[in-house]
Amino acid sequence: MAVLSFLPVLVIYFTLGRVEAQQPCCTPLQWQATLGVTYGQAWIDSNTAQAVQNLTAEFAFDWNKRATAMWMTGTQYSPLVPGPLPVHSAYIWDHATGVMWTVDLARKSCQHSELSKGPIAKLCVADDAMHVATTHLGPSQMVCDIFKFKWPVGEPGFPAIAAATVARNGCTPVRIGIVDGSPTSGGFFFDARVYNMKEGIHNTSLLSPPSYCTHGSNTTTANESISPLTKLFSTL
Ligand SMILES: *[C@@H]1O[C@H](CO)[C@@H](O)[C@H](O)[C@H]1NC(C)=O
Ligand SMILES: *[C@@H]1O[C@H](CO)[C@@H](O)[C@H](O)[C@H]1NC(C)=O
Ligand SMILES: *[C@@H]1O[C@H](CO)[C@@H](O)[C@H](O)[C@H]1NC(C)=O
Ligand SMILES: *[C@@H]1O[C@H](CO)[C@@H](O)[C@H](O)[C@H]1NC(C)=O
Repeated sequence: MAVLSFLPVLVIYFTLGRVEAQQPCCTPLQWQATLGVTYGQAWIDSNTAQAVQNLTAEFAFDWNKRATAMWMTGTQYSPLVPGPLPVHSAYIWDHATGVMWTVDLARKSCQHSELSKGPIAKLCVADDAMHVATTHLGPSQMVCDIFKFKWPVGEPGFPAIAAATVARNGCTPVRIGIVDGSPTSGGFFFDARVYNMKEGIHNTSLLSPPSYCTHGSNTTTANESISPLTKLFSTL
């Protein structure tokens, strides 16, 4: 009996040990990629209003310059509006200057809001992440790990949950999903498939707002960001 109850403990110990050996796993310090994004938001109630966006985004993460950016093109679907709406906008989270830019690229109007100033966190699978599965992707059967961990947005004390698929070799992100909310209070989901990831920033314009934001008269100041999508990378 003593031996029998000892065995499962050993198994658990070795499983934890193997996962811990892969930690921490962080993306390169500078990279850009194309994201295929599905983003949805639901408000309870008004008969549970919702909106879904189907987007292609150019994404850039630059730890050295303390900035993250997402330039999006796509369509928003919502029963709140008569038809699908085109989305053509950009978000730039610039922690070096302490400004978040929201740019309406179609109207050429810009909004800046305050962001914490200072160093940013690396983009990592959290140390206490749970290893969910191992998969093999693509013709080369690249080994990927799927992790689940807490993502620092959401109501205070209730962080969102992230599920990330990353290549075991190099921690290259393959897919990331972030979910926040509950059936009673509404919430959002963000699902991004990562294509053409390149290490380094190959297009530095991605990390700066268009010149009409800094030189024109079309820039307004917002006190708080409106959409949870704008908060996703603001707490890095
Ligand atoms: C979302 O966009 C992709 C790429 O443009 C397209 O193939 C897909 O059909 C779209 N999905 C919906 C629900 O509109
Ligand atoms: C660089 O990014 C900007 C902003 O998204 C875009 O307008 C421009 O076409 C890109 N340049 C290249 C060479 O991809
Ligand atoms: C300011 O915004 C208006 C419409 O909102 C647009 O027509 C105009 O081109 C913008 N001005 C500049 C300098 O980009
Ligand atoms: C932003 O805050 C300032 C000062 O607290 C206030 O005067 C202004 O009306 C607010 N602007 C908006 C758009 O809420």
